[in-house]
Amino acid sequence: AVIGLSAVFAPIVSSGVSAKETIDPYHWTREDVSHLSMNTQNTAPTIQKDELIEITSDSYIWDTWPLQEKNGHPAVVNGFKIIFALSVPKDVLPGKRHDTAEIHYFFSKDGKSWQSGGPVFKDGEALGSRQWAGSSIVHKDGKLQIFYTATGKKGETQLSYDQRIATATATIKTTNTNVSFEDWSTHEIILEADGEHYQTSEQTGPQESSYAFRDPYFFQDPKTGEEYLLFEGNSAGTLEKRPYKHEYIGSSKFRQNHVIPDGSKEFNGSVGIAKATNQGLSTFTLLPPLLEANYVNDELERPSVMVKGNNYYLFVKTHSEKFAPGLQAPEGLYGFTSDSLFGGYQPLNESGLVIANPSDNPYQGYSWMVMSNGTVISFVNYVDVDGKDIYEIGEQSPEYQFDHFGGMLAPSLKISITRNETKILHEKKQGVFK
Ligand code: FRU
Repeated sequence: AVIGLSAVFAPIVSSGVSAKETIDPYHWTREDVSHLSMNTQNTAPTIQKDELIEITSDSYIWDTWPLQEKNGHPAVVNGFKIIFALSVPKDVLPGKRHDTAEIHYFFSKDGKSWQSGGPVFKDGEALGSRQWAGSSIVHKDGKLQIFYTATGKKGETQLSYDQRIATATATIKTTNTNVSFEDWSTHEIILEADGEHYQTSEQTGPQESSYAFRDPYFFQDPKTGEEYLLFEGNSAGTLEKRPYKHEYIGSSKFRQNHVIPDGSKEFNGSVGIAKATNQGLSTFTLLPPLLEANYVNDELERPSVMVKGNNYYLFVKTHSEKFAPGLQAPEGLYGFTSDSLFGGYQPLNESGLVIANPSDNPYQGYSWMVMSNGTVISFVNYVDVDGKDIYEIGEQSPEYQFDHFGGMLAPSLKISITRNETKILHEKKQGVFK
């Protein structure tokens, strides 16, 4: 009956997409970012490297996400909590980890001490030459569904950076002491950049630093029951074809005195969204982005959204060097809020900044993920770099990378969220998702 009713009232648009969902994306502006300042409410405590504990000693882990119920709460399966993380063996140069990443999982009864389950997928079954971040949900019937980024082409001899969104399902098998995944479905590609709403790799010119179509995050809107995937994208079109718009920069008052340095146009990060069109979550329709950051930022990574009270909270993570020229902003977690999923967003704390790495340890954490109760997880990236630019040291200095890379879960943080404002309340133990 419910299905019948919504079909009657839904506006008739050929793709099954309602008018509301085609609202212009929100623009994160240069004016918004100009309001940014680091303070005690948004700056994370310095990570003390010698106090850290790894959950596995054989491999590095970075982007991490918990198994979630469809409503976004962490799931418990027969007493076990399960987390997923990108992983490589510890002899891989930290800066090269993205080239061979695979998804591993860990499980825990107390939600504090984690046991390694090894790779999630059977050898050779996952798509892409490597797998990047995603999200995992448990269906009502107990089935696991994982969404991930299939990066590169299976079996490629020369590394490529194609990014497509893939999914697979499995049965979760538990014993008293173990969790495993069985009866895997065939992996399927469910979303690809279309060149109309989202930039394809072919549209990405050599001057543009990156192209992204990755990091799917499942979201069921509690207000409507509709199901979506959010993902990291870039505004569509080649550099030459993309227009300049005043809305990208800010108000007319701000624009009067604001210089836009050359090269800013190359920065075209977006938060994408696609709507599920079947119950099995294997078919989706691409919608226009929720947010675009043209002339502002190039990489809005691992987007996620949650609802608190009447408001939607949209979060992304980004690096300092992904901000367009002329903008100064820390590596951090950034957020936006609106009372509807589509349109009407405002940056949290005026600029968007929610959690910044401290200036004395500017790369210490990354890939923050906000849990529904305000606990924020992340991983230890590069610590104690003494003012060096880690991206410049880059590949030239293997020892330096090995000495300074964490590759493990960071101490969690607890934040409060009140309307348009957030605040870091305190630090929690590593590996705590609650
Ligand atoms: C963030 C990230 C993700 C991507 C992964 C690749 O840390 O860049 O966007 O999925 O790392 O390793």
